[in-house]
Amino acid sequence: MLTVVLIILLVVAWVLYKNKKPKNCPPGPVNIPLVGRAFAMNQNHPEKAFVEWQRQYGPLYSVKMGSDLMVVISDPALLREAFNKPASTGRMAGPVLEMLGVQRGLIFSVGEDWHVRRRFTLFHLRNFGMGKARLEDVIREQVDAFLEHVVAPSEGQPLTIDHSLDLAVVNIIWGIVAGETMSMKDTRVLDILEKNKSVADKAKRLNIAVMVPWLLKVLPRSLFRLDEVIELFNYPKTHLIAPVLEAHRRDFDPTSEPRDYIECFLLEQRSDPQRFTDEVLARSIGDMFSAGSDTTSTTLRWAFCLLCARPEAQRRIQAEIDQVVGASRPPSAADRQQMPFTEAFLMETQRFGDIVPMGVLHSAEQEFELGGYTIPRGTILVSLLRAIHRNPAHFPEPEQFKPERFLDREGRVRPSKALMPFSVGKRSCLGEAMARSELFLFLTCALQRYSFAFPAGFQHDLSSADRLGVTTPKPFEVVPTRRR
Ligand code: HEM
Repeated sequence: MLTVVLIILLVVAWVLYKNKKPKNCPPGPVNIPLVGRAFAMNQNHPEKAFVEWQRQYGPLYSVKMGSDLMVVISDPALLREAFNKPASTGRMAGPVLEMLGVQRGLIFSVGEDWHVRRRFTLFHLRNFGMGKARLEDVIREQVDAFLEHVVAPSEGQPLTIDHSLDLAVVNIIWGIVAGETMSMKDTRVLDILEKNKSVADKAKRLNIAVMVPWLLKVLPRSLFRLDEVIELFNYPKTHLIAPVLEAHRRDFDPTSEPRDYIECFLLEQRSDPQRFTDEVLARSIGDMFSAGSDTTSTTLRWAFCLLCARPEAQRRIQAEIDQVVGASRPPSAADRQQMPFTEAFLMETQRFGDIVPMGVLHSAEQEFELGGYTIPRGTILVSLLRAIHRNPAHFPEPEQFKPERFLDREGRVRPSKALMPFSVGKRSCLGEAMARSELFLFLTCALQRYSFAFPAGFQHDLSSADRLGVTTPKPFEVVPTRRR
């Protein structure tokens, strides 16, 4: 009997010890032993619980998820300070992520591996076009295909653009990575898109296991659909990247200028084969697909939805296009400087759509100080972008879509330090320049030739769909009309 009591006391003491928050930790909600607050979250909209806590505990609070301590930041200056510290550049780790092999890519790698891969990728994406002519060509090819094959045949009729936007954006990434122009009907890309969609769906249950890893030890893997997710995760590598890599290796001439990201990688592989392995290449490309496709196409979806909901804003963008670009040549990234309203419209689209409401989780590689508190090593850091982008102190009437908020009295662009859809600091979005070019060129090329409206009688309440992942507008159709 005494032994049982002793064991119970020991277990209680252990649970209380694990449950305790460290010293000088930011305040936050009361913890539930062993699971923390993992079950307080809506599966499709985890950000809602975090925003609710932010209202109670302020712009810097802590909360336990399983055995992990999370620190949630929703003040722009504090977030900038935190994410500019080398100590904040870690990522979440754990058995599930290891099984998925994600540490060998760009998003989940850490330390020296991450540094080298990030520097290499940024440099070569820039060389192959980020903000330069090559990228513009690749983007324009895809916008032209979208306008010719999707929009033109449906003039005057309701049209769903979701899938075609997804395709165009994936094809742009592939054009930069593999130097290949994919047609909108290429089944390889369609396959990848389908698999990407089912990963998000199938991974819902796995998210709980990422937060509370010991559940995987006591419950069967099948309950979390772990093996299905691993297979889907590896799909682009085995079905798209591996065959193209082989073809590149066969045709590659190391003495001539590399033509795409894969050739740059093969060149680097010759001087540092230990670090630049085929696996790293496949995972890095996979990460560009997963970080760069849904995000960009969903932002475009918001842009088209908002253009139809605000015809006066659409007309103002078209007036800028007519004035700055005219009709005889396509818009180019260099026009952007002279098109302040278009720029403000895109900024407001990103603020309003707020498609990555909790950013991507970081983790503290070392203990550091923030806002007078101590953030221990291993803490998960959350950039609660939803609370920043919807804070009336930074954006009055935040629930309203108002591009003018980003213009000054003279009509010049007035940037805001609180607008951070690509996050901030050392790990901020690696594809920001590429995404910004895509958004600008897509919008201006489309509006140069067409106007878009909702079908007669249809109204969109500008709310988002109920699904996990990036925040997407509720479904809508557009009716295109040719301008000239
Ligand atoms: C509108 C489109 C996009 C949005 C809103 C977006 C947003 C973000 C955000 C919020 C992060 C997290 C940064 C952090 O950890 O603090 C991120 C990371 C990242 N993004 Fe994007 N992104 C977009 C497009 C792209 C594109 C086109 C690419 C590349 C082709 C890309 C590649 C990446 C990569 C590789 C990371 C991880 C960077 C690292 O861990 O060092 N993104 N993005």
